[in-house]
Amino acid sequence: MLKIVPTTPYTDQKMGTAGLRRKSKVVTQPNYIENFLQSIFNTIGDLSGHTYIVGGDGRFYNDVAIQKFIKMAAANGIHKLIIGQNGLLSTPASSNLILKNKTDGGFVFSASHNPGGKNGDFGVKYATASGGQAPSSISDKIYQNTLNITEYKIMDVSDIDLSKIGTQKLGNMIIEIIDPVTEYVEMMQNIFDFSAIKKLFAGGFTMRYDAMNAVTGPYALRIFEEILGAPKGSVVNYHPLPDFGGLHPDPNLVYAKDLVDIMYSDNAPDFGAANDGDGDRNMILGKKFFVTPSDSLAVITDNYALIPAYKNGIYGVAKSAATSTAVCRVAQSKNLPCYAVPTGWKYFVNLMDSKRITFCGEESFGTGSSHIREKDGIWAVLFWLNIIAATGQSVEEITLEHWKKYGRSYYMRFDFEGINTDIADKLMSNLEHKLPSLIGQTFSEYTISQAAPFVYNDPVDNSSTKNGLVIDFTKGEKITFRLSGTGSSGATLRVYIERLDYHNFYDNPQQTLKGLFDIAMEIAEITKYTGKIEADVNT
Ligand code: G1P
Ligand code: ZN
Repeated sequence: MLKIVPTTPYTDQKMGTAGLRRKSKVVTQPNYIENFLQSIFNTIGDLSGHTYIVGGDGRFYNDVAIQKFIKMAAANGIHKLIIGQNGLLSTPASSNLILKNKTDGGFVFSASHNPGGKNGDFGVKYATASGGQAPSSISDKIYQNTLNITEYKIMDVSDIDLSKIGTQKLGNMIIEIIDPVTEYVEMMQNIFDFSAIKKLFAGGFTMRYDAMNAVTGPYALRIFEEILGAPKGSVVNYHPLPDFGGLHPDPNLVYAKDLVDIMYSDNAPDFGAANDGDGDRNMILGKKFFVTPSDSLAVITDNYALIPAYKNGIYGVAKSAATSTAVCRVAQSKNLPCYAVPTGWKYFVNLMDSKRITFCGEESFGTGSSHIREKDGIWAVLFWLNIIAATGQSVEEITLEHWKKYGRSYYMRFDFEGINTDIADKLMSNLEHKLPSLIGQTFSEYTISQAAPFVYNDPVDNSSTKNGLVIDFTKGEKITFRLSGTGSSGATLRVYIERLDYHNFYDNPQQTLKGLFDIAMEIAEITKYTGKIEADVNT
């Protein structure tokens, strides 16, 4: 039954910010996924006695890739796989299962918030025993392996039935099919005050949760409607579909348009939320009100004492460097450390493992805590519901009170998409080159105080990572430039802009940041390099 198949390398299997992510058309080429998986197995080495968690977000090719994975795992001598029923698992649920079962790692077939389907994207997230995605030291080795691969091992058997819960065997390998939802729900019940949230809904509180036809549907139905008693119909788009029903499963103001329209209408429910394809991102909305992810992290940190699992204290917090400084002002007032790390969840993992932080987040709609080693969309939604239940305030009241206490960081991200990779690299190196000469210069009302690449020295493993270029101004304004590491074709330049205001809380962010945006365009010579006079996506 064991087959050894000769193969030739693909040269594009380097993992980015969050695993391997490519166009479906690329991933479905002969031996593409096999090469990549075998390279991971080769890098790990001796697999005997190893157990892995396996699932995916239900997108196109999830079913095919997971069958290949199972047959290759058995052929490579893996001891046991724990698989979500029908091949489904959200990224946070997978991280929980890795930690709870102390497995050697896990695999989630997902391209996260990227569109799915034949013309969409596919991906593989590989997590180690830490419960978090493989660090660069490991992903670099895997990449080297993909460049030298000559064969892969696979069992020549028919497909495995993933629909029935229970245990079966393939050769010597044990396959355990589990309900993907149960253990995740138990974890949430141990963190939050479910009875307070239940009372909130019993009192008439209304919510709309959009699962965007992706993996969180079954989790959300069980938690919000069945257990917490949110009215039937509160959870929408809850069937995971291979093409996400044509939706782009990224919870932001642009792609979660239906939800946003409803939340900004006159009969909006009290609370709105959405998660992404694999369930690790979140968006929080109130009635005609949007909470930026940077503010959400700050509000969560300020209110930790309201949550049963955190009420005895938290270690500290961390944000990606590109995320606004709002959370650090909260940390400072509470005498907690606040770390800034490169973009990508894996940088938070060391800080969690060494008990330096409890909460962390990114501007890109990712928020989480040390309950697992990934960001967690439903966790963030429950955190807000718990704050609302405990304070009796609306989303807007909670946020406004927060701004009055800590000031408001007006913050936006501007994405310039589909840039030729060489041109994007030239733009960045040109900018980096001129950073030193910018210090002390004044552009309209803003004077530059600092201009340098962001370099992170990990306090745990002493590794050093460079990520993006940062320009600081004398009154706390900040512009950060970096290239995306998750695209599946071409380059995306991200420009992150922040400006702090202690008095005006209801200005239009885009207008407030316009002056700084113009400076970013000028300094980085964006039009000269890209031909673009404005960003493609503003969030
Ligand atoms: C993007 C986000 C980043 C996030 C990653 C995975 O990466 O910016 O915060 O960790 O997706 O969800 P980027 O494309 O910017 O490299
Ligand atoms: Zn995701």
